[in-house]
Amino acid sequence: MESREILKLVLEQLPDGLIIFDLNDDIIFANTMAEKIRHIPRNENIGQNLLNCHPEYSMEKMKRALNYLKKEKIDDFHRMIVDKENNKIYMNTYKAIRDANKKIAATIVVTRDITEKQVIEQDQLKNNQILQEQVLDLTDKLNILFLSSLTCIVNTVEFKDPYTKGHSLRVTDISKTFVEQTYGQTQLLSEIEIAGKLHDVGKIGIRDSILNKPGRLTPEEYEQMKLHPVITEQILSPMAKLKNIIATAKHHHERFDGKGYPDGLKGEEIPLGARILALADTYDAVTSARPYRQALPRERAISEIKNNLGTHYDPELGNKFIDLVNSGTIG
Ligand SMILES: [Fe+2]
Repeated sequence: MESREILKLVLEQLPDGLIIFDLNDDIIFANTMAEKIRHIPRNENIGQNLLNCHPEYSMEKMKRALNYLKKEKIDDFHRMIVDKENNKIYMNTYKAIRDANKKIAATIVVTRDITEKQVIEQDQLKNNQILQEQVLDLTDKLNILFLSSLTCIVNTVEFKDPYTKGHSLRVTDISKTFVEQTYGQTQLLSEIEIAGKLHDVGKIGIRDSILNKPGRLTPEEYEQMKLHPVITEQILSPMAKLKNIIATAKHHHERFDGKGYPDGLKGEEIPLGARILALADTYDAVTSARPYRQALPRERAISEIKNNLGTHYDPELGNKFIDLVNSGTIG
C-alpha cells in the first residue's frame, strides 16, 4: 500500500475528531470521529463553508475561533466545550498549519473526548468535598444557613433594582467561564460564583431615585452610588470565614492604577477575583441595555477594555479576557 494511502487511513481512523479547513473556511477533510462528535454528515459538508454546516450557533463560534487563529498569527489554542445533549466534554485544539515559509496553508480543529478524565477529576473533587463536609463543625453549618439568608438579601435587591438581577447572574457566568478556562477547577471558581452573585447587594443601601435614574448621575449622586461596595462588605461581614469572597465583592470597582474605589488599591493589591469581576462587570454593562440606553455590540466592550488596560484593568487578565471573547468562548 502506498504511504499516501496509509496516511489517509490514519487520519481517517484517528481516535480524535479532525476537521481540516482551507483559508476560506471551506471544509476539505473531516474524519470518522469528527463526523460522530459533531453530528455532521461528511459527504454533504466536504467542500462546504463552515457557516453552511449545522448547528448554526456552534459554527458561528468556530468561525470566530478560526478567524482569531488567522488574525492573531498564533499557532494554536485550546477550548473546552460541553455537549449537554450527549453529556460529553471535549477539548478542541485549533491549530494553524504552515508551509516552509511560515505562511498559513490550512487550519485544523482536533476534538478530543475528555469526559472520562473530567469525570474522574470531578469525582475526586466530590470525594474531597464529602470529606470536607464530614469535618464541618456547627459554625460551618451556621455559615451555610447564613448563605441561604444571603440569597434572600439578593432576592430583595433584585426586587428593588430589576437590572441587577440579570446583571449579577451574567457577571457570575462570565467570571466563572474566565476562571475555568484560565485556571481550571480551583477554589477561586467557587469563590467567584458567590462573590459574583453578591457583589452588588450593597445597592440595597442606595436610594431608588439614584439607582433607577434614567439620566447621568450628578457628582453627589455618584458619590452615593460609590458607597455600594462598602455596603456590600458590611452586609457580608458576619461571614468571617468567607473573607476572600467579601474582599472580592468589596473591591470590584478598584482600578489597576489605584484610582478606583473604595480603597484605591493598586495592581496585585486588588484581589484576583475582584480584577476578574471588574472585566466581567464592564463587559456585561456595555453589552446589556441600561435604563438610559440600548445594548451595545461586543466590539464596544472589547475596545472599552482594550483602551483601559493598565489604567482600569489588569493588562494580563484583560488581554486574556479579550482573547476569550474574540475566540467565541465568552459572549
Ligand atoms: Fe458594582
